[in-house]
Amino acid sequence: MDLIIKNGKIVSPVEVYEADIAVKDGIIAAIGKGFDETGAQVVDASGKYVLPGAIDVHTHLAMPFGGTVSADGYFSGTRAAACGGVTTVFDYAIQRKGKGIVQTVEERNKMAENEACVDYAFHCAITDLNGGELLDEFSAAAEYGVPSFKCFMVYKKENMMVDDGTLAKILEKSKEAGTLTNVHAENPDLIDARVSKYLSEGKTSAWYHYMSRPEFVEAEADIRAIHWAKSLNAPLYIVHLANKEGAEAVSKARSEGYEIYAETCPQYLYFTNEVYKREDGRNFVCSPPMKGEESRKALWQALKRGDISVVATDHCPFMSYEKDWGKDDFTKIPNGCAGVENLYPFMLDAANKGEISFSKAVEVCSFNPAKIFGCARKGNLTPGYDADIVIYDPKKEFTVSCSNMHSDYDHTIWEGVKFSGYPEKTFSRGKLVYDNGKFVGEAGWGKFVKRIPRK
Ligand code: URP
Ligand code: ZN
Ligand code: ZN
Repeated sequence: MDLIIKNGKIVSPVEVYEADIAVKDGIIAAIGKGFDETGAQVVDASGKYVLPGAIDVHTHLAMPFGGTVSADGYFSGTRAAACGGVTTVFDYAIQRKGKGIVQTVEERNKMAENEACVDYAFHCAITDLNGGELLDEFSAAAEYGVPSFKCFMVYKKENMMVDDGTLAKILEKSKEAGTLTNVHAENPDLIDARVSKYLSEGKTSAWYHYMSRPEFVEAEADIRAIHWAKSLNAPLYIVHLANKEGAEAVSKARSEGYEIYAETCPQYLYFTNEVYKREDGRNFVCSPPMKGEESRKALWQALKRGDISVVATDHCPFMSYEKDWGKDDFTKIPNGCAGVENLYPFMLDAANKGEISFSKAVEVCSFNPAKIFGCARKGNLTPGYDADIVIYDPKKEFTVSCSNMHSDYDHTIWEGVKFSGYPEKTFSRGKLVYDNGKFVGEAGWGKFVKRIPRK
């Protein structure tokens, strides 16, 4: 064996049990007791939890957006991921008019292959069907290992929005191609109308980012997307769900037997719209915005009952000077916040405090993401699976600060937030990439994860 992790409490999506893990060639070879330790690196995990690495299925690395490019590229973004116990990141490759899906993903793959420190996969965000031609490429893209496509129901002026007709075509095609349709659900016309109104009234602070995209603006689009998916009998995945009414619509559709999944993010589970009243409110500007306390509570409830299947981050950091472009006009603030390094510590802190079980944290951060998005050998600690492993110390106290994070940004919305318990070590396919506060991985280690289409 190459690596033996012994005496730890292994967390699966259904139970926590004591056993040792033996790793050979980056794969979990066996789980049990009494392994021959000759020649192996032996790690004693007594008193610690041993978990599958988190899979953050929502990041935007080196993404051109809001008049700039997001601050973390494939190296720094995956370095931060490793240091937060994330062993696979999914990035959104944005297809542009005239370009194919595989071409778009291959270009991003070339950027990532020499930089990524942990494994990575892509969703493709479709912005233009190229007169319908792109639909013929769905099966090829799925075979290439990218069986999920995103539709932005917003971002008209950024030329990223797809209209309802296009969304419907994508949903229809997904059934035949074995792909899953992800949607960013907000109503663009309502947003535009409200933005114009507030600007004309001289209401320009970050609070009006929230006011122009309040609960019902998001809920309307959630309900519309669910309506399309139900009517066309196609699977749907709603990204970064942040409002109560939308969560209720997801629960209802699921109880009726439809294949509707929802993802939320730590920022919606922790912060509320109150952050937009702060002096640094612009740093919290992301879309959809944080909502009121009622929504925050409803998201936790939906997660606990299993109607929110995934927690991912929407990691999309911008530098302070870029956020400052919107000091006097909220529409000029690049939308997005950092989070990849905070995902697992945040959810495991909730587990450590008894608010959810450790198995639930594994379910929503690792097992479900792998299952929903077709990562065959990830998301669980079981023989034959990749040895993507996190050792978590439930006794370690940790306070987030920009200075102890591993991204390239210069501020974090999580500054000063305290976690009880923290990841101690992260292994990516058996290789130690994070050790007690230090990144010890290397650029180029991460591999493209070829995912399996849905049928
Ligand atoms: O504000 C956000 N979320 N920025 C990233 C792009 C997106 O909408 O996911
Ligand atoms: Zn989005
Ligand atoms: Zn996003």
